[in-house]
Amino acid sequence: MRFETPHALKAEHDELHETLRHGTKESGALGAAAVAVAELMHPHFLKEEEYALPPLALLGQLAHGAVTPEMTDVLALTDKLRAALDEMLTEHQAIVDALEKLSAAAKEARKTEYVEFAEALTLHAQTEEEVTYPAAILVGDYVRKSLGVF
Ligand SMILES: [Fe+2]
Ligand SMILES: [Fe+2]
Repeated sequence: MRFETPHALKAEHDELHETLRHGTKESGALGAAAVAVAELMHPHFLKEEEYALPPLALLGQLAHGAVTPEMTDVLALTDKLRAALDEMLTEHQAIVDALEKLSAAAKEARKTEYVEFAEALTLHAQTEEEVTYPAAILVGDYVRKSLGVF
């Protein structure tokens, strides 16, 4: 069974990615700060789209009480997320630190769009820590319990 990152979450990632891509083309300290964020954010987003977000594709079906045997395929992803969780949170902290520098450089350059971007990405990371990652882990736990897989 294949699991696709829910469209709304993929669209949010793509929008953040696109804004940052513009930022990396800015000159001086602002551009350099954007590149520093991009170097941290890009590999992090790839990991999320590999194993942290696709399990959420099952939420709708699970909420309707529909559990099917092929859903056990999701356990490879949710086990990977659980194992990587500390590392993902450390990456968030590094990204947020880099965003503070980006925000300061954006204020200096009077480019408010990147101040807003820094706020949006910081909030995005917080949403993932409080909602997205725990929800993905619970998908795995629920599938495991429901199907009696250990
Ligand atoms: Fe993300
Ligand atoms: Fe993240």
